[in-house]
Amino acid sequence: MIETMEEKAIQEIKQLLQLVDQKLSSIPSSPMKHDLIHEIKQWSDEKKESESMEQVVNPYEVSAKDGGKIDYDKIVEKFGCKRVDQSLIDRVHRLTSRDPHVFLRRGVFFAHRDFNEILDSFERGDKFYLYTGRGPSSEALHLGHLIPFMFTKYLQEAFKVPVVIQLTDDEKFMWSKTLKVEDTKRLARENIKDIIACGFDVEKTFIFSNIEHAGTFYENTLKIGKCVTVNKANAIFGFAGEDPVGKMGFPPVQAAPSFASSFQHLFLGKDNNLRCLIPCAIDQDPYFRMTRDVAPRLDYSKPALIESKFLPSLKASTFKLGVNGKMSASNPNSAIYVTDTTKDIKKKVNSAFSGGKDNSTEQENAGADLEVDIPFKYLSFFLDDDAELEHIKKEYGEGRMLSGPVKQRLTEVLTEVVEKHRKARAAVTDEMVNAFMAVRPLPKMFD
Ligand code: TRP
Repeated sequence: MIETMEEKAIQEIKQLLQLVDQKLSSIPSSPMKHDLIHEIKQWSDEKKESESMEQVVNPYEVSAKDGGKIDYDKIVEKFGCKRVDQSLIDRVHRLTSRDPHVFLRRGVFFAHRDFNEILDSFERGDKFYLYTGRGPSSEALHLGHLIPFMFTKYLQEAFKVPVVIQLTDDEKFMWSKTLKVEDTKRLARENIKDIIACGFDVEKTFIFSNIEHAGTFYENTLKIGKCVTVNKANAIFGFAGEDPVGKMGFPPVQAAPSFASSFQHLFLGKDNNLRCLIPCAIDQDPYFRMTRDVAPRLDYSKPALIESKFLPSLKASTFKLGVNGKMSASNPNSAIYVTDTTKDIKKKVNSAFSGGKDNSTEQENAGADLEVDIPFKYLSFFLDDDAELEHIKKEYGEGRMLSGPVKQRLTEVLTEVVEKHRKARAAVTDEMVNAFMAVRPLPKMFD
């Protein structure tokens, strides 16, 4: 049973609140009743205030406690997933005969569910497929958005397996105050160009928009939807009475691609139990906790997960993250966009929060605080050369290197990533988008 203690407690509290509500209606209006209601309100306001100091990580909000760092150990414990350890990384190395991706080596993809089982069965010669996605809420992507796609592309190449990519234009329509269906559909196609630019192989990749491909996996969304009660959805996703009913229907839509039978044109209904591995950011875990919970009831295998940390905001004084945006999308200076010029990148990196000391004498004496230093953190995500990173860590951390050259190096590294992406994206045509989105068999998907 996947249901966490927390989800259970929430359901119980909801039932208690219903009871309170019933009792309350049984008391006739009086000053005493009025005081009682006032007391309840005060209590709830206090709770709300103290809760906002807590770390929140769910698909709709990511924020750290007291504006501090995200506590990833706490997430692992609370969600009940497992840490990716060195032996798992070594196994990936052995099985794929190539260097594990920098995101694996540096602990960016730090948590998993059953990834070891995927590797066990791969070792025995069993295949799997990869599933990831994006909610098309904005025109330009930033580097944080690209992380799961860069990683999924690496997994596709290293394990020679097919990939399905879901664009949740329906989700973004349902959650947005301003976007129309036409807008999210258009954004989906634009974002698909950025996704293709990450280098996916058209012979092994199916990209779909929920709105445009609704038919292909609708059966599974129905079956999943029937297994999840309203109480359960509320406990997992925190839906409230005033939310649009469409939100409640969405989690099964994100769940369905985890089951091979959702893609009849790829797997032909022959292998409904082909296992699925989902690379995603850790905030998507609640969707797949729900999915894993219903899988046995539908006679499907549970999807496995490999989950990443967030790329912090450049502006974070500590690692405070913007609501929803991880690297907050509301302040363009807090994130590197794939459309940024070298000049933009340089400016943003130079004003990023530094753990270096204010003057060179102090820096030489004390060294930089690498725990809070954003340029160093970014280098650990994007500088592939282990030896160079180790060198910077030592020299900068011990004060022999100043923050200037570290920022300079990061500007070079990010410029290279962004330039490469820009060139690749410029080469993506509408015909290519159609080719990736065509409902078709993929005869070479495991070659
Ligand atoms: N809900 C995700 C978002 O808002 C998009 C998404 C759909 C996704 N399916 C997924 C992300 C599978 C990771 C894995 O970005």
